[in-house]
Amino acid sequence: MKAVEMKKGVYWVGGIDWDLRNFHGYLTQRGSTYNAYLIIDEKITLIDTVKHYLYDEMIKRISQIIDPKKIDIVISNHVEMDHSGGLPQLLKLCPNAQLFTSPSGEKGLKAHFGGEGWNFKVVKTGDKINIGKQNLQFVLAPMVHWPDNMMVYLEEEKILFSNDAFGQHIASYERFDDEYYLDIVMEEAKKYYANIVLPYDTNTQKAFQDASKLDIKMVAPSHGIIWRKNVGKIFEAYQKWMTNQTENHAVIIYDTMWKSTEKIAYALAEEMEAKGVAIHIKSLQTNHISDIMTCVQTAKYIFVGSPTLNNNILPNVAAFLTYMKGLHPKNRIGMAFGSYGWGGQSVALVEGVLQEMGMEVLPNIRIQYIPDTEKLKEEVKTKLSQIS
Ligand code: FEO
Repeated sequence: MKAVEMKKGVYWVGGIDWDLRNFHGYLTQRGSTYNAYLIIDEKITLIDTVKHYLYDEMIKRISQIIDPKKIDIVISNHVEMDHSGGLPQLLKLCPNAQLFTSPSGEKGLKAHFGGEGWNFKVVKTGDKINIGKQNLQFVLAPMVHWPDNMMVYLEEEKILFSNDAFGQHIASYERFDDEYYLDIVMEEAKKYYANIVLPYDTNTQKAFQDASKLDIKMVAPSHGIIWRKNVGKIFEAYQKWMTNQTENHAVIIYDTMWKSTEKIAYALAEEMEAKGVAIHIKSLQTNHISDIMTCVQTAKYIFVGSPTLNNNILPNVAAFLTYMKGLHPKNRIGMAFGSYGWGGQSVALVEGVLQEMGMEVLPNIRIQYIPDTEKLKEEVKTKLSQIS
């Protein structure tokens, strides 16, 4: 329950959600945190709150430093309730606090909570406030995840409170990137990007451009670990992810009924491997769609297979395609494959979705009943011949 001092007078006072396993459909196997930050200056400032059920935990942390009633300024960087859930209760404790938020933040907070009597102060990019010895500067980040997202920069300590950007779903006792396992933090940051931020790549580029004008020494996101040693590394990764840069990897995603579609998946993997492409085989029976998206984030080739069931595709494949289509990775090369007994509609249905997503689509593989091993090998070679 300890508050953690990040810099003199700047504290992490958030909540740790050790048991969270589902964040609107995203499998959060490591739990998460909702990071709230307290700055002690002439005007005591709180940046964001936590999910409603962790409000008491946040208040206990704040109370180790000051009486929460003394908070003068609350900054709401994001309306989504994992960060604003504690706001109504908090503002009952300090009803005169000024509430800084973006224009969409004001609308969103009123739509969620009414906001009657709340002392709204609406800001835009470049606006600054003085809180005593220190200054805070606002950077709007619309659609880095919702229209209301905003970041705030503490000039003297060079900390960017980035809200959803650069976050990861990790529940931990450790707060900083040099205290935790960096490979896990990077992987979880990639998963977070692929499942939350990916559809908004253009908006993210704009917010990133605005933030890059600042001299940033620490990045304090609203989820997970705080970046203080590897700020360059996470910025470099975001640069790659938000411009849809891919690696020479293929992710082969499928569900199967009697192992025939699986046989095609493995034949495709073997041929791609022979061509020097790194492969990831993802059965939808054993992998969560949000974990598959982590792989999709940087894979150049996305192959999707389904047998035909009742003139359609298997439900697991439909769920994945719906999810991936919404997240909309760009600049990818796709392929549909699958086996069938009589109707055989599945492959065209999968291919249709890949085309709707704007992928360059390779000739599909559609085989009746059980693929003959040698004939399958030949067909795979032919269909992948344009990949050198
Ligand atoms: Fe962590 Fe978009 O909320």
